[in-house]
Amino acid sequence: MRVYVTRSIPDDLLARIASVGDVEVWDGDEPVPQQVLLSAVGSVDGLLCMLTDRIDAGLLDAAPRLRVVSQMSVGVDNIDVAACLDRGIRVGHTPDVLTGAVADHAFGLLLAAARRFGEGARRVADGEWGVWDPWDFLGVDVSGTTLGVVGMGRLGNAIASRAAGFGMEVIYSSRRETGEIGTKVSLEALLAASDHVMVTVPLTEETRGMFGAEVFARMKPTATFVNVSRGPVVDQDALLEALRGGVLFAAALDVTDPEPLPPDHPLVVQPNCLIVPHIGSATQRTRESMASLAVDNLIAGLEGGEMPAEVPGDL
Ligand code: GLV
Repeated sequence: MRVYVTRSIPDDLLARIASVGDVEVWDGDEPVPQQVLLSAVGSVDGLLCMLTDRIDAGLLDAAPRLRVVSQMSVGVDNIDVAACLDRGIRVGHTPDVLTGAVADHAFGLLLAAARRFGEGARRVADGEWGVWDPWDFLGVDVSGTTLGVVGMGRLGNAIASRAAGFGMEVIYSSRRETGEIGTKVSLEALLAASDHVMVTVPLTEETRGMFGAEVFARMKPTATFVNVSRGPVVDQDALLEALRGGVLFAAALDVTDPEPLPPDHPLVVQPNCLIVPHIGSATQRTRESMASLAVDNLIAGLEGGEMPAEVPGDL
């Protein structure tokens, strides 16, 4: 059995893979180039990959022996899951183990947007702190306000439970799920009533471009907008206009389209927009747990057993 791993992972986890087959690792600092990946998959049974890899039908065609694709992330929008399933290739991902870290991060972004952390830090670094001024640098409240969560899966629920600690009222919109906390409303009602809007939906053909000019126009001009889902759910030109024109108070984005966003992109320098480099799950413990779960999925799949987190079963 042969396995290809597209980014370095801890040695003990590699040793576990090595106990079931030969393992080759791309250990570059950048994602594996597609051409390298295409030739590597020619002889492998299992692939442990990252969200930066493109697992499309062309790649699958180059991988005649491939039986398992195990990704070290929860989102699998970079994988043509239907094409995998058509070919009998099982797909694994890493839900649950990252939920707490991403929910913490989402809340950090919300606080940062509402209280203007990005602008404040930039001002200090630029030597323009000035003197304390009672009317300078005013943000908007978080405590006691209304949080609108778009998408109410595991992450939405974890965010809602944190919001309760801030005395926030939680409303959410979701096609399928019912939240443990909060009131389900239509997206229109959520946009109109929320002081802060947080996006947690997966990227699908349905959610691509979901947040555009019309959506922003329905939000309160004092509202913040936080995206911890995927960049392409947002029309970034529309977001920029909304932030420039006072249609929205501020935004904080963990994800953009493309990633990385070029440093000369206007959103990067827009004062009321804070962008961080897709680090929602980036804690030592969480990333190790994700890698470990990805290895569990990989090995179980290769051995024909039950994968702890198989797509689409528990998406
Ligand atoms: C991160 O974005 C993930 O999908 O795990």
